[in-house]
Amino acid sequence: MKIAIIGTGNVGGALATVWSRKGHEIALGVQNENEFKGKNLLTNPNTTLNSISEAVKKSELILIATPATVAIQVSKSLGETNGKIIVDAMNIVMGRGPIGFTNTSDAILANTNTKEVIKCFNNMENPIYGNEAIDAFMAGDSKRAKSLVRDLALDAGFAECYDVGGNDKFTLMESYAFFWINLAMMQGLGREIGFKILKR
Ligand SMILES: NC(=O)c1ccc[n+]([C@@H]2O[C@H](COP(=O)([O-])OP(=O)(O)OC[C@H]3O[C@@H](n4cnc5c(N)ncnc54)[C@H](OP(=O)(O)O)[C@@H]3O)[C@@H](O)[C@H]2O)c1
Repeated sequence: MKIAIIGTGNVGGALATVWSRKGHEIALGVQNENEFKGKNLLTNPNTTLNSISEAVKKSELILIATPATVAIQVSKSLGETNGKIIVDAMNIVMGRGPIGFTNTSDAILANTNTKEVIKCFNNMENPIYGNEAIDAFMAGDSKRAKSLVRDLALDAGFAECYDVGGNDKFTLMESYAFFWINLAMMQGLGREIGFKILKR
């Protein structure tokens, strides 16, 4: 799949790396081609360096992994997104997010012309724990997009990517990430914790 990565730091960089190794075509979209986080990503296979709008133009799916505070600015910088899928990995942390929105995905929908935004990978660690993999979760209205995003989550090493519901669950996905942050940081469990669904 042709994937644009906007935000090439911890989250964007980790996903760009695993997806490039799975054979996806990765277009890094950066603000300044001379100075950006994750320059080492250019040694990954199938990976090119682009301006943000060029990366979007080349791609079918766009991952946004920038701070939530710039969600509106980044959305406006993407250019034409009609017919493209946007995957939102951002989190509003301690109330710092796009002004006027309870979640970053609604800010993307309001400031781009795609109708297909999926919130996923907003709780993103190395998914492998010994012999087991943790689960991912996603929300958004587009069933076509969720099917593709599930495949990408499995490519990234998650055991499963559960469908949490439609766009009305975007804010719940923000709370889910904050639930992890609370346990890891505020309650002191540390970053090496992850969620997995058990069934019987
Ligand atoms: N770290 C985690 O454990 C984790 C887990 C899940 C989700 N998240 C969420 O994922 C997002 C990214 O986190 P991170 O830890 O990967 O951040 P990070 O390492 O600080 O990277 C942020 C990236 O965003 C880019 N950026 C900043 N402002 C931009 C703008 N206006 N336009 C385009 N790009 C811009 C930066 O560009 P430059 O390269 O030019 O500096 C950098 O590449 C956050 O919303 C965070 O809450 C984080």
